[in-house]
Amino acid sequence: MLLLLAACTAPDKEDPVVLAFPEGFRWGAASAAHQIEGGNTNNNWYQFETLPAFADKVAEPSGDAVGGYTRYEDDADLLVGLGADVYRLSIEWSRVEPSRDTWDEAEWAHYRAVLEALRARGIEPMVTLHHFTEPIWVQDLSALDCEGGPTDANLCGWTNPDVPAEFAEFSAEAAARFGDLVDEWTTFNEPGGYLLSGYLGGLFPPGEFNLTASAIQANVIPVAEGLADGHVAAYAAVKAADTVDADGDGQPARVGFTNSIQWIVPVDADSPDDVAAAERMQTLYGYMFPDAVISGLLDRDLDGVPEEAHPEWANTVDSLGYQYYFRLFVKARPGFPPLDAVPCDPSVLEIIGLALDDVGCPEPDPDDVTTMDNENYSPGLGLLATALAERYPGVPLRVTEAGLATDTGQRRAESIVRELVGLKAAMDAGAPVDGYIHWSLTDNFEWARGFTPHFGLYSVDRDTMERSSTLGAEVFTTIIADNGLRQSVLDTYGSGEHLSPEE
Ligand code: BGC
Repeated sequence: MLLLLAACTAPDKEDPVVLAFPEGFRWGAASAAHQIEGGNTNNNWYQFETLPAFADKVAEPSGDAVGGYTRYEDDADLLVGLGADVYRLSIEWSRVEPSRDTWDEAEWAHYRAVLEALRARGIEPMVTLHHFTEPIWVQDLSALDCEGGPTDANLCGWTNPDVPAEFAEFSAEAAARFGDLVDEWTTFNEPGGYLLSGYLGGLFPPGEFNLTASAIQANVIPVAEGLADGHVAAYAAVKAADTVDADGDGQPARVGFTNSIQWIVPVDADSPDDVAAAERMQTLYGYMFPDAVISGLLDRDLDGVPEEAHPEWANTVDSLGYQYYFRLFVKARPGFPPLDAVPCDPSVLEIIGLALDDVGCPEPDPDDVTTMDNENYSPGLGLLATALAERYPGVPLRVTEAGLATDTGQRRAESIVRELVGLKAAMDAGAPVDGYIHWSLTDNFEWARGFTPHFGLYSVDRDTMERSSTLGAEVFTTIIADNGLRQSVLDTYGSGEHLSPEE
């Protein structure tokens, strides 16, 4: 409450803003259609949640999610309450194109209403075109073997060149229809996450395990190429179709993708093997897609050195979104596919029947552990800004997701404040970051984990769908109002031990 009052008052000499972000720095929150809307029954995730073949994969189905499809005005009001400039949201492809080459006008009208509700409140929409979901006709999980080859009802996934082309058509349609409302476009959310969770670890649709080097070459790399092709085609399509400068900054469309990247470090920093293993892991996990669509390079043999040239992919990013959640230790492990390395992530190791101890991995720092068992290491956000700025000089950066799974607003507030301290230091040292978008506006459907992990600035009672503010939202509101961190916020949330995630 005290902090809320602070947010409403003018600059305070007793409690000055000690870490001021640059004028024009963008603040916001994010969501994704399938995670909030409910009733998305025509996409790959719905199949993954409901088909018996994947029964053990998802904790619970998305169902009505958090009622976001109908509550979009309320959610826009929450953003106003935060004082946010930007809302990152996605358009559900399977709603607007339920079957191949057929538009659903009522669904397009729905998304226009959503975008108008944001603009009417002075909030800039940043629109994602693919946030892990795609229509069943792109890849039908009930017919994964694709016997008889692709049809209009099942294009058999991203290795079919028709799929990148279809994605570009959908993207062009969205850009043409909404160019007057949208200037910020994201082709893919975390193509690396989609690829590695779906085709390597089997945690996402289509649930494939490919853990041998040959299976990876045969089944994973071709999907990566399809995704890169899809991004490049959608980039060009959106640029051509969105010619209206909605926000008057002289640029009708800024197009990019959002990249999942964690702070990946060797278990033993003095071991050249662990150091090289961590580098290979980061090249695959955090750099594969930016290397492809910024530098036009692919590390096909996964040795940590991207050497295969793809000039046709290069320079197709106007702004790179990056999304950070945790620190990940990596241990060299010869013979362990595909990288001769293991990630010290208990849930990944569990898939292959190993525990942290078995492979010489440290336990995550108990002070930083989240309810998803990973380590929300706050310096990571800034360290990654620096690393990305060095690897991709001249490419503007934005934090398009950062957050953690926690049941307490206090812990969320602490994480936001501590991550921003590191981010500001990286910006002061030259990292060109123009905004920070928190994941997430509200609690939502956390994919395979269902509704148990809570990421929301606002919590949601799923019986009533009521949203309630958390301390995370209150502190974030103060930060946005101040465009920085005032001394009392820093003192209260910026140091000391965290609450444990359950407290
Ligand atoms: C994804 C979100 C997800 C979040 C938290 C990101 O990888 O883009 O959809 O909910 O992480 O796990």
